[in-house]
Amino acid sequence: MHIQINDLKFSYTSTQILNDITLDLTGPKFVSIMGPNGVGKSTLIHCINKILTPTDGKVFMDGKDVKEITVKEMAKSVGYVPYSANDTFPLSVVDTVLMGRHPHSKWKSLDSDLDIVYDTLSMLGISHLAMRNFNELSAGQHQKVMLARGLVQEPSVLLLDEPTSNLDVRHQLDVTKMLKRLSVEKQILIIMISHDINIAAKFSDEIVMMHQGSIYAVGTPNEVITPENLETVYGVKAAIVDDDGAPHVILKDALPMDVTDVDSIRSPVMAKAVKEKMDGNGESA
Ligand SMILES: Nc1ncnc2c1ncn2[C@@H]1O[C@H](COP(=O)(O)OP(=O)(O)OP(=O)(O)O)[C@@H](O)[C@H]1O
Ligand SMILES: [Mg+2]
Repeated sequence: MHIQINDLKFSYTSTQILNDITLDLTGPKFVSIMGPNGVGKSTLIHCINKILTPTDGKVFMDGKDVKEITVKEMAKSVGYVPYSANDTFPLSVVDTVLMGRHPHSKWKSLDSDLDIVYDTLSMLGISHLAMRNFNELSAGQHQKVMLARGLVQEPSVLLLDEPTSNLDVRHQLDVTKMLKRLSVEKQILIIMISHDINIAAKFSDEIVMMHQGSIYAVGTPNEVITPENLETVYGVKAAIVDDDGAPHVILKDALPMDVTDVDSIRSPVMAKAVKEKMDGNGESA
């Protein structure tokens, strides 16, 4: 599976969010997209799966312009696990996950679909939730159910928007490790947005780092996770240590916020408060 993005631009309003994104991703592989809040990571994923239409530029899947791919075709090959399930289903967990089989089932679900659902729940360690109401789960349990729904789709590309953000540390590690394994075993191109640099660096084949609406760096974790890149992109001072061949980030300090950022805060009350705090910090430093 091959995703090619050429000179993609996107804006919701007059402000351009994504500028000239050009990116080539070939699977099977486990890729993480990183970058600060608001940089355009979720927007980029939405341009790939046709939830949004780019203002300019093109996205190709296996050489085919996504504009030409029907929603049904797309659902068969591209799975998407959103950041949060806004659409709360008054359904049991098993029925919620079964909905992921929809692109494959003709008009009714089969026993084989249910087998896939139960196997996936078991793989994620949530079989015990099968009969629970989806709306009555914790945030982390929700996230695992949504992940199961994406996996039962058996896509060749899986797009995940911060799939482990609500999971405890053990489950963050466990799920990310499982995603890496699935990318190999099931030959999937998995593209995951993540704010957890260390876990992503430990398991990703490739990291895409975004900065100011563009791609700032693409490469192996060791190539991309460097003190210089972290300083430019996130505004943090960090040291990198080696963790069995993967870079492990030790955060040292956050650089002071740029005064021009304060000027762009549109609430005068908040801008004044931030400025006063920064001036205070400046004096004591
Ligand atoms: N529906 C929308 N209408 C207008 N602006 C939007 C909309 N959705 C997002 N934006 C803006 O587009 C920019 C990029 O948002 P996006 O959600 O892609 O960021 P992100 O990189 O995923 O951030 P985060 O790490 O916080 O999830 C932000 O400035 C955001 O405010
Ligand atoms: Mg986002």
